[in-house]
Amino acid sequence: MGKKLLINYNDNRFKKTISIDGDKSISIRALLLGSQAYGKTFIKNILLSEDILNSIHCLKKLGIRIFLKKKKCLIYGKGLNGFTYKKKIVLDAGNSGTFARLILGLLVKSPHYIKLIGDKSLSKRDFGRVISPLQKIGASFITNKKKSLPLQMIGSDFANPIIYFENRGSAQCKSTVMLAALNSRGQTIIKAKKSRDHTENIFNHLGIPIIVKKNKNFDIIKVKGQKEFKSFKYNIPSDPSSCAFFIVLTLLSKNCELNIKNVNVNPSRIGYIKILNKMGAKIKLKNLKKKYGEMQADIFVKSQPTLKKINCPPSLNSSLIDEFLIIFLAAAKAKGVSSFSNLGELDKKESPRLKLGSKLLNQLGIKTKLINDSIKIFGNPETNLKKKTINIKNYFKDHRIFMTSVIAAYIFGGVWKINDINSYKSSFPSFLNILKKLGYKFKLV
Ligand code: S3P
Repeated sequence: MGKKLLINYNDNRFKKTISIDGDKSISIRALLLGSQAYGKTFIKNILLSEDILNSIHCLKKLGIRIFLKKKKCLIYGKGLNGFTYKKKIVLDAGNSGTFARLILGLLVKSPHYIKLIGDKSLSKRDFGRVISPLQKIGASFITNKKKSLPLQMIGSDFANPIIYFENRGSAQCKSTVMLAALNSRGQTIIKAKKSRDHTENIFNHLGIPIIVKKNKNFDIIKVKGQKEFKSFKYNIPSDPSSCAFFIVLTLLSKNCELNIKNVNVNPSRIGYIKILNKMGAKIKLKNLKKKYGEMQADIFVKSQPTLKKINCPPSLNSSLIDEFLIIFLAAAKAKGVSSFSNLGELDKKESPRLKLGSKLLNQLGIKTKLINDSIKIFGNPETNLKKKTINIKNYFKDHRIFMTSVIAAYIFGGVWKINDINSYKSSFPSFLNILKKLGYKFKLV
């Protein structure tokens, strides 16, 4: 604790092929579904981040045997609603909003009260968004007024199939209801604003009865409950959200090339690549193939130090919801004024990312205009901080604020002192090692 990362501008060039850690969203879903399947589930290339280790710890408390050896994970699933646990257990989700919300879906038939807690940042986040549909399904809650953690939940014998309208574009809300639907007698119908569709894909892949009708803005998802499914094998692709940091770093550096192997390129996750290509990048997807119901590819990117401004269509927002901070950096280095709107959900993440993203750009000397849930970024390709010192406090210990600040240090120069050197471990434990492999220097002080 108390350590900072010190970065002093270093002009680095690289031409490399790298691998990036496993996808966080898919790792959590594979664990949850492995716990509900009958028999041994094998997961390869699971993400070994703190969010995942906390998820495994919680599932073990719910009576699921799980063995982890490096990036291989073996789960002894006990079938639907097969959790066995003592009264008064406490599940600690740490920093993971995804695990904390999704696990509640699997607990709709819990016979005892279960207490759910999380770290300081997770305890500030809204759980009302999953509490309301779960109450309709039959669960009861003891919560504070804000409907944040800690909370207690008890299920009911009969989990009702419901009709649910998910209008935030939140994959966590949609997935919580889909997981609850596994235990419901009958058909659950969800009308969901577009968001990442990994839960739909893994349900399909495992033969869980699901029908998905994709419309322009909303999807209709129908799930039939109480159908047991078999254990499975799953090899997890790399996380496109983690790749985004290295893609933007390569793009905005001089004479660099990067090839990233086996990345999850599900279209609901790579909106940021669309945006960067619209800004003038030439990012290519190679060896495209479908595996385990998800699209995978190698990503190839070359330096493109002059980018154009972007007017980001809000319809793409959910497909780059975790990448806005790093895209804001690209906009800061682009020529012209970029605009992003309808970003209310961004302030509901591990930290108020819209406000903090804007503040970070202001520290670089980039002008921004923040109006409600929209931001205009007045890009300046000439920005070079030379000997200026930038201090990043990262009070919320937000992993993406930390990693975005590190990338900013290498792109914009200057001397950077970045607080909270551990936050990145919640999603991307190899982050600093990969930087080292690419030739970047930093110190812990
Ligand atoms: C996630 C969904 C997103 C995203 C989060 C992971 C998921 O959250 O920000 O990092 O795995 O379902 P919301 O669904 O709340 O937008």
